[in-house]
Amino acid sequence: MQKSPAPRANWATRFGFILAAAGSAIGLGNIWKFPYIAGQHGGGAFVLVYLACITLVGIPIMMAELAIGRQGQRDAVGSFVALEGPGSPWCLVGWGSVIAAFILLSFYAVVAGWSFDYLLKAASGGLRNRSPGEIEALFDQLVASPGRVIFWQALFLTANVAIVLGGIRTGIERWSKILMPALFALLLLLFIQGMRSDGGGQALAFLFRPDFSRLTPRALLDALGHAFFTLSLGAGVMITYASYLEPEADIRALSLRIAVLDTVVALVAALTIFSVAFSANLEAGAGPGLVFKTLPILLLRLPFGSLLALLFFLLLAFAALSSSISMLEVVVAYLIDEKGWSRRLATILVGFAVFLLGLPSALSFSLWQDVRPFFGHTFFETFDALVSSWLLPLAGLFVALYVGWFWGSKRPNKTLPGGSLQGGLSAGWQLLLRFVAPAAVILILLNQLGLLPSG
Ligand code: TRP
Repeated sequence: MQKSPAPRANWATRFGFILAAAGSAIGLGNIWKFPYIAGQHGGGAFVLVYLACITLVGIPIMMAELAIGRQGQRDAVGSFVALEGPGSPWCLVGWGSVIAAFILLSFYAVVAGWSFDYLLKAASGGLRNRSPGEIEALFDQLVASPGRVIFWQALFLTANVAIVLGGIRTGIERWSKILMPALFALLLLLFIQGMRSDGGGQALAFLFRPDFSRLTPRALLDALGHAFFTLSLGAGVMITYASYLEPEADIRALSLRIAVLDTVVALVAALTIFSVAFSANLEAGAGPGLVFKTLPILLLRLPFGSLLALLFFLLLAFAALSSSISMLEVVVAYLIDEKGWSRRLATILVGFAVFLLGLPSALSFSLWQDVRPFFGHTFFETFDALVSSWLLPLAGLFVALYVGWFWGSKRPNKTLPGGSLQGGLSAGWQLLLRFVAPAAVILILLNQLGLLPSG
């Protein structure tokens, strides 16, 4: 196995790392998915369950991933090799993560591309003077146009390649320092507008006044699955990003900050979207079309509506971009660290390969909507299920088991620089990592196999 000859890249500042990792965590999951699942599950009580999942399952697994990368100082596969030796079965966990990141990016780029298209629509006045029905139809027209979708998907991936080509400090970190503050500012602006609208108070009550009668077993499982996805766990992102940290970094403090930022953004995004929905007397449970169909209609009814729509889709595009660069970096870091490729070659080739792999997903809503290779599901649905429902939770489960039970079992006295994870983890976190997190993930998996009655 070749080592890269140059000294290993690292983050310029701790703050830069936090922004980059939070950038990965804060994505379409926060702005598009969290509001609609919280809406479907009735708000307040779901939010409480979600917060519990983030704390009891998400944060412990994030600490474990950060510990592996900080200690291994290599990519997601190489870190397991560094810790356990080549040929250890744990390396499979790293492999699974890299593959998950690769596939995830392929269809994430398709959805991100849609947000680019809406950005252009909003900027060029394409949303103005249209009836609600026409605005809703725009989405169906967009996804049914293969050329358009592929164009935006390619452009989005090109932006990813351009950023990741710049490396850690001058690529990912520098862009995170631009994209994330911009994202926070945009969100704050929209939030203030939303809270000033008639629906503001109602949105607060909906999200923070729990109605436990609306809580179902399904809500619990959705909260658990989403906690996983929103924190970017199970695809090697936190391992890879932490490998550019110095070994003394305090992973407990870092993971708490990343999780808090991610949670705050999800809640604020949901409040914003619900306030707009309620001010138009709309239901909060609109489902996946909430952002692309319902929201533009509602925003355009507000004063400065076109501008607000523009800002919203800019927010969505920035959130998607800061997440997708982390997926690309996982695969690129693997090729650099393990195969000795140059960053340039790795980034360009992976970008192109991801584009090709994403084509079936891009066409899943148009030319290939009837191509259903897997139990009647389109390519898009199949890739999404494979990654979100299987690869990510499985990798997360094994990360929890590895760090909770097996880490250093062969070399129990080896002191790790910066203290072992065990040394840095209080008994409480340790307990969560060993028992609660694995049990929760196994619950998700059993449910997916249809082995739980709530199915
Ligand atoms: N967390 C991001 C979101 O909420 C998506 C994401 C980025 C991700 N990198 C990931 C999800 C790695 C799982 C694994 O949109």
